Amino acid sequence: MNESAAFASPAADASQASSPAVPPPLWLLAELTYRCPLHCVFCSNPVNYAAHSRELDTAQWLDVLREARALGAAQLGFSGGEPLLRDDLEVLVAEARKLGFYTNLITSGIGLTEKRIGDLKAAGLDHIQLSFQDSTQELNDFLSSTRTFDLKRRVASLIKAHGFPMVLNCVLHRYNLPHVDRIIEMALAMGAEYLELANTQYYGWAKANQAQLMPTREQLEDAEAVVQRYRETHGDLCKIFFVVPDYFERRPKRCMNGWGAVFLGVAPDGTALPCHAARDLPGLAFPNVTAQSLRSIWYESDAFNHYRGTAWMKEPCRSCDEKEQDLGGCRCQAYLLTGDAANADPVCDKSPLHEKVVSVVREAAVARSAPASALREQPILFRNDANSRALAAQAEHTDHTSDTAGAVR
Ligand code: FES
Repeated sequence: MNESAAFASPAADASQASSPAVPPPLWLLAELTYRCPLHCVFCSNPVNYAAHSRELDTAQWLDVLREARALGAAQLGFSGGEPLLRDDLEVLVAEARKLGFYTNLITSGIGLTEKRIGDLKAAGLDHIQLSFQDSTQELNDFLSSTRTFDLKRRVASLIKAHGFPMVLNCVLHRYNLPHVDRIIEMALAMGAEYLELANTQYYGWAKANQAQLMPTREQLEDAEAVVQRYRETHGDLCKIFFVVPDYFERRPKRCMNGWGAVFLGVAPDGTALPCHAARDLPGLAFPNVTAQSLRSIWYESDAFNHYRGTAWMKEPCRSCDEKEQDLGGCRCQAYLLTGDAANADPVCDKSPLHEKVVSVVREAAVARSAPASALREQPILFRNDANSRALAAQAEHTDHTSDTAGAVR
């Protein structure tokens, strides 16, 4: 199917005509696998990922790509886990190119050999996003619980040698915020076109490690000043994105640009999701692409319609004059912090539960100013199968993941 044929699908026209208020998805994220050679402490995969080991096969993924393109999706991210662990990645990329997607490989770089990058180039891959955990070998390797820093550096050279545009991605937190200048220097030296400095968002494994990762406001302000200085001195040589963590804001982000608005995620087992973290929300049955068409999932499923628009809102969102701008913020954050996904995101200072966010930031500041001997920090929790199973088992007995994190190693 060529690009124009995909957009001209008669079924797409009929569906959009019958659902005029719902735009089609624009961005498909194909989470090909939850398997990963790294063990990052802020991994965005669900903490119970080990309970979801089934993966769609090649033919099923090809169907997902075709259906999504016919719906109107134009951007496609291949992610995981580590998508390079799928040996059919080149087949999927080639089909995506044929369909007219703009494709992005979101990778740790582990497994990106000279042969594979050549094959991916030949298959039509457009873009590669390479993650680093830090600019130092010591911290990069500690946070991922691997020895991968040098390998990642070699992969960065390969990416440039093959002429790909490169985004370097580094998740920020209290351990590496003081290294922001060195992370920027590293990106410049590697010739990255973009550097995404994404402050940790506290879902999944990052939520379980929140007490360890939460920075102070001073750390954030210092890092932001460094970023600004580099922007002024280096212009567009490397475009730097600095994403401030929600907990330090007074208005919530328009999460995913709205629930069921532009983003369609498909998990390794075929579960369709309106955001990465949604499968942790209780009370919603997320449909599977093996049982339902993507079209019906997007337009008709309760899961995708549940928090679409503003009709689901309670007070204070319902009568708020900013509700069309932020759409109530993030449903997953509202659930994690208040126990009810239909509450206002407590990042908003109009929320009666805003104190929950303020107190997390305040406690982080107090903990950092205390002598090291006085810190009562949880051990850091690496993403691995054993911890995933332990957390899943403990979650059966409690609704609050952070209460369980200290009991696993
Ligand atoms: Fe799920 Fe924000 S991460 S709605």
